[in-house]
Amino acid sequence: MAELNFPELVQADRVHKSVYTDQQIFDKEMENIFEKVWVYCGHASQIPNPGDYYAVTIGRQPMLMVRAGDGTVHVLHNRCPHRGVQLVGNLKGNTGGAFVCSYHAWSFHLDGKVRAIPLARGYEGTAMNKSNPDCNVKRAARVDSYRGFIFASLVADGPSLLEFLGDARIAFDDMCDRSPVGEVEVVPYCHRMVQQSNWKFFMENQLDALHPSVTHQSTGISAGRVEKRIKEEKGSAPLHYHYLSTFASSFEQWDGVQTINFPRGHGILKAYMGLRPQDPDTLEYEAVLRSAYGEAKTEEYLSRSIHHVLVYPYLSVQSPLQQLRCLRPISPGKTLSEIWHFRLKGAPEAIYRRSLWYFNLVNSPATMINADDLENWTKAQWGLESDGGDWVSFHRNHGDDRVENGVSYSNHGTSEVVMRSQFQAWSKYMQGDAS
Ligand code: FES
Ligand SMILES: [Fe+2]
Repeated sequence: MAELNFPELVQADRVHKSVYTDQQIFDKEMENIFEKVWVYCGHASQIPNPGDYYAVTIGRQPMLMVRAGDGTVHVLHNRCPHRGVQLVGNLKGNTGGAFVCSYHAWSFHLDGKVRAIPLARGYEGTAMNKSNPDCNVKRAARVDSYRGFIFASLVADGPSLLEFLGDARIAFDDMCDRSPVGEVEVVPYCHRMVQQSNWKFFMENQLDALHPSVTHQSTGISAGRVEKRIKEEKGSAPLHYHYLSTFASSFEQWDGVQTINFPRGHGILKAYMGLRPQDPDTLEYEAVLRSAYGEAKTEEYLSRSIHHVLVYPYLSVQSPLQQLRCLRPISPGKTLSEIWHFRLKGAPEAIYRRSLWYFNLVNSPATMINADDLENWTKAQWGLESDGGDWVSFHRNHGDDRVENGVSYSNHGTSEVVMRSQFQAWSKYMQGDAS
């Protein structure tokens, strides 16, 4: 494909299969989207002490985030300015007061500035001396954080982090507000899994209310049977059975779950799960929140209609259960996903265990739910790589979309307005508009 014609590839109700399979398009996605927008690096609690670092990939760039002595977080290219060796080989660790390159021992302060070039005598009269900025580790152009969640952008210009997040910032507010002290901390076990499929399948699927009653039917129905039997025997069943049985909700119920589709491709799937049973653990937790925030704020925080929030093009945050999944695309048909989980500071242990159940039952790579989805996306990738057809259909409820202040809605929860909205943002980015 010599010339990329985005209006031709992305039409109002269908997209060309190459947007999921073509290497040239993937490279352009990295250049025009992932290496420009604000990308999630990690949570402040992953690097609490000076010298703590965490390696992270932004687009195609190996980077690292590090806590400096003054508490500031820096995001640096993981590359020595001398001959290019990666400065850290581990995923995480503590580098002490400086980075020391393993090849020839150039060393760098935690903000990336060169600290020492050993055997300086060979450099007299050359351009390489400590005052040359080429001796410093290259930094991300911009670093910012919101409620403890750290982001970086590799370009100096463009919207601020808050502008980029827009209304999707509710993901972080909703997660943190559920703690009586307004903060979360990372649970330091991250599932990392390589999906054998394009990153866009994941983002579309997150707000795809059309698939669960089909894809997850076997899991949902089986869990529902066990839940019913326990209820009959004991009067009530633990909430985690509901996490699974609710996937087998009827088509009508799914069609009633609304999606909100923001500019820049972000979106919200509104709540469909009951998370406020009247058991002693929930009542104790709600009492803790009421004493921290008062009645009105507590109700506001606990009754937000959110199942999860997407930050396009790479993040899915299930704020009511403190889960966050982050995509790091590898190639058109391979995507690394990081599955994180957070603990509400100051909340009772039972509430942590409850969201841990969700982490393990629904989001981990070992669950039936995630496995169901992964199988579909792999088969979708294979199908689109074949000669069996050129187009992917997003016709469902096309013509029914309402757009108010740039936000797209549909009267149907199962509408493919989600994909149409994401591709609008995608097309804009790909044509060079990252505003
Ligand atoms: S490559 Fe790092 S010091 Fe030589
Ligand atoms: Fe699913």
